[in-house]
Order: sequence, then C-alpha cells, then structure tokens
Amino acid sequence: MSATTSGTSITVPMIRAAKGGTPIVCLTAYTAPVAALLDPVADMILVGDSVGMVLYGMDSTLGVTLDMMIAHGRAVTRRARRACVVIDMPFGTYEASPAQAFANAARLLAETGCAAVKLEGGAVMAETVGFLVRRGVPVLGHVGLMPQSVNATGGYAVRGRDPAEAAAILADARAIAEAGAFALVIEGTVEPLAREITAAVPVPTIGIGASPHCDGQILVTEDMVGLFSDFTPRFVRRYAEMGKALGKAAEAYAADVRAREFPEPRHCFGVTKEPEP
Ligand code: KIV
Repeated sequence: MSATTSGTSITVPMIRAAKGGTPIVCLTAYTAPVAALLDPVADMILVGDSVGMVLYGMDSTLGVTLDMMIAHGRAVTRRARRACVVIDMPFGTYEASPAQAFANAARLLAETGCAAVKLEGGAVMAETVGFLVRRGVPVLGHVGLMPQSVNATGGYAVRGRDPAEAAAILADARAIAEAGAFALVIEGTVEPLAREITAAVPVPTIGIGASPHCDGQILVTEDMVGLFSDFTPRFVRRYAEMGKALGKAAEAYAADVRAREFPEPRHCFGVTKEPEP
C-alpha cells in the first residue's frame, strides 16, 4: 500500500489492512496546493481541525466550524487523487448524540468526497462510532491527548504517565476499535502505553508524539516544514525551514521593490525599451 507500490487510490480497507505492515504515512493538508504536493507521498491525508490554529491563528481547535472543514476538505479532495482523505469532525458537531454525529458526518462525506471522518474520544464515544460505522461512515478514532478537551483537561500535557490514566486510555482505545473504527490516532501519549495500545488493538494505530512502534505516523505538515511557529515541539522533526525561507524571500522582494529593481522590463507587457528613470 505504500507510496512506492501503489499508483491507485488508497481506500479505508487498505489502511485497515496495513496493521503491522510498512508504517502508514500520514500528513495534514488544508489547501489544494499542499494536497497536490503530499498526494504522491502520503498514504493518508488528514484535513485536521488544527487548521484553526495553523491557518486561522486561533488559540485552540474549539472555534473551528463544520463549514470551515467542508471548505478546506473540498479544496483537499480536489487535488488528492491517490491518498485516503480523512476530515476531522470539529468540536460540537458530534458529541450530543449519534444522530447529530451522523447528520454532520454525512455532510462531510457528501459535500467533500472524503473517504472517512475522524473524531476525538474514548469509551464515551464508542456508541457514536458504532452508529456511524453501521451506517456507512468510516471513522478514524483519536485517543490520548485530545485537543478538543483542552478546557476539561487543562492543557496539552502528555497523557498516560499516571497508571490510572494509562489504564483509561487503553480502555478507550479498545472501546473505539471494538466499535468499528478502521484506525486510531494516538496523540501525546507516553511511549510504552502507545506501544501497548498498538499491540492490543486489531486496527492500525497512527502516532503523533506517541511511539515508533505505532502502525503509522502523522505530523502537521506546517510543523514538519517550519511554517507554523518558531517553536519545534519535541515530537516533531523538521524536514525543511520553509518559514525562514519565506521570510528571506519577502526581504529580498521588499529590497528589490524599494530599489525599483523589480519588475524588470521582461516582467512587463508592451515594453520595447528600458523605461526612463
Ligand atoms: O487536527 C489535527 O491535525 C490532528 C492531528 C494532529 C492528528 O488531529
């Protein structure tokens, strides 16, 4: 299923079947050009609700709306031909009842053409996950650190250090897998627990700040290329410094504009000789 072996669309059953095989490569995208660049390489593209913080400058993901996810989801599915596209259900669009979750998940699938939705939550969301899956909505679970619960948990600290919390997270993962999720994101969780969950559940685990033993890995693309913030979280490896490159390019452009060195005649239309200064 990996990028080098498959030229065809990667489906939810293909991701599900990748348990224990070559690690599943996942990245986030919110826009068409980024989706086009990632599509040949990634097995799964997540239109994450991290869009609120990364593109809109929000302090958390809580202000992201279903309409925002539909707009960004459409942009991504327009350019993703091969990768399996999953869209996050934002806070407040699925927690009230399975029926609420189905109505909003159906909009995401029908209006964007994505393959699946992701929702955060453990055992408490198992009934909803089962309800969606039995009605044809593939669900990617998300356990451990759950950013949509930041007000209840008090922050983004790593989860599972305390034995009681670790047992609860393991039970959450089991419940969501048993309910029918095709894979699980494990975020911000101590490594031994992420490894234990990976061994305990029959579906692939996708780690972020979790463990190299997960069945796949995901990063926020802007973190991975240095476009989001100067701070690099411990769980991120930077593969490029695009933020610094963009800053340098803007400085060079500004200097050229101020010195009237841009545009040159070749950038202009209808110019037959150098304009008089
Ligand atoms: O919103 C997001 O980008 C996510 C990933 C970090 C897993 O949920």
